[in-house]
Amino acid sequence: MMVQGVGIIGYPIRHSISPVFQQAALDHHSLDATYQAWEVTPEGLGDFMAELRRADALGINVTVPHKEAVIPYLDEVDGWASDAGAVNTVHKDGGALVGHNTDGIGFVRALEGEAGFAPRGSRALIVGAGGSGRAVALALARSGVASITIANRTLRRAGDLADAVSGRGASPGPERPPEVEPISLERIAEAASSVDLIVNCTTLGMRHGPDEAASPLKADHIPSNALVYDLVYNPPDTPLLMEARKAGAATLGGLAMLVYQGAAAFEYWTGVEAPVEVMMKAARAAL
Ligand SMILES: NC(=O)c1ccc[n+]([C@@H]2O[C@H](COP(=O)([O-])OP(=O)(O)OC[C@H]3O[C@@H](n4cnc5c(N)ncnc54)[C@H](OP(=O)(O)O)[C@@H]3O)[C@@H](O)[C@H]2O)c1
Repeated sequence: MMVQGVGIIGYPIRHSISPVFQQAALDHHSLDATYQAWEVTPEGLGDFMAELRRADALGINVTVPHKEAVIPYLDEVDGWASDAGAVNTVHKDGGALVGHNTDGIGFVRALEGEAGFAPRGSRALIVGAGGSGRAVALALARSGVASITIANRTLRRAGDLADAVSGRGASPGPERPPEVEPISLERIAEAASSVDLIVNCTTLGMRHGPDEAASPLKADHIPSNALVYDLVYNPPDTPLLMEARKAGAATLGGLAMLVYQGAAAFEYWTGVEAPVEVMMKAARAAL
């Protein structure tokens, strides 16, 4: 395959909407580059990365199943990517391939920019302890939250994530690191009653996911003064967000994070400010 410009690698890749909003951003700035979707199998990753190194390209986005496997092919990874143990963006810096993970930054920028929520000093409940749960927990710790409760179906994974996050405070900042507690899903209702922010980092409610109709929480257990943030972006209105509205809580869907993590990647590749509004509009239309 001909590698040039910029694009996303994954397997399969046909559901990605990144090409739509990234191309809109490139066109907005009249940058002469095409954003492509490259279907790369696990066996083909080594050849692709060798090609990328030789190519006249800005970089790539990396999605499932290559986010960890791509790391040995890079010359450098930034702090976010090494903390996450996963890379979602590579940019070509002269001859070097540099790995980043923009999920955490995208999550916080969307939280502040779209929902107007200031994380510092707040109490958060994260549901899920997979890849996105990890990015969100680390980002909230860096943003100076007071406490993080991590609820997960598999309690051991919540415990491992809590260990990874414990002791990490905002930097720079005088605050203490957050208190972090892992709990089982059965205790989620009780935990939700005393938090300011609830984030769904599971696949519950996701179209074509394991349980499309499920919400991790019912309205009765959602505080009306909390913000409920669902990382699931398809459908835009998830079962959890409907429950949150019933409870009178504020809501934020996952599309904002998707666009903001893409905006951060765009800035690494091009060095120019990402046109977030343009990208958001294109992403909404693509869904
Ligand atoms: N908006 C964005 O930019 C963005 C970015 C990343 C991800 N996401 C979305 O976030 C969701 C999670 O992605 P991920 O990459 O973190 O996935 P992942 O690493 O596979 O983790 C999946 C999580 O969902 C839990 N889970 C799965 N099925 C469940 C069920 N039936 N009941 C209860 N818990 C269940 C898993 O629990 P166990 O540990 O017990 O298996 C785990 O915590 C996806 O819907 C994805 O589309 C959105």
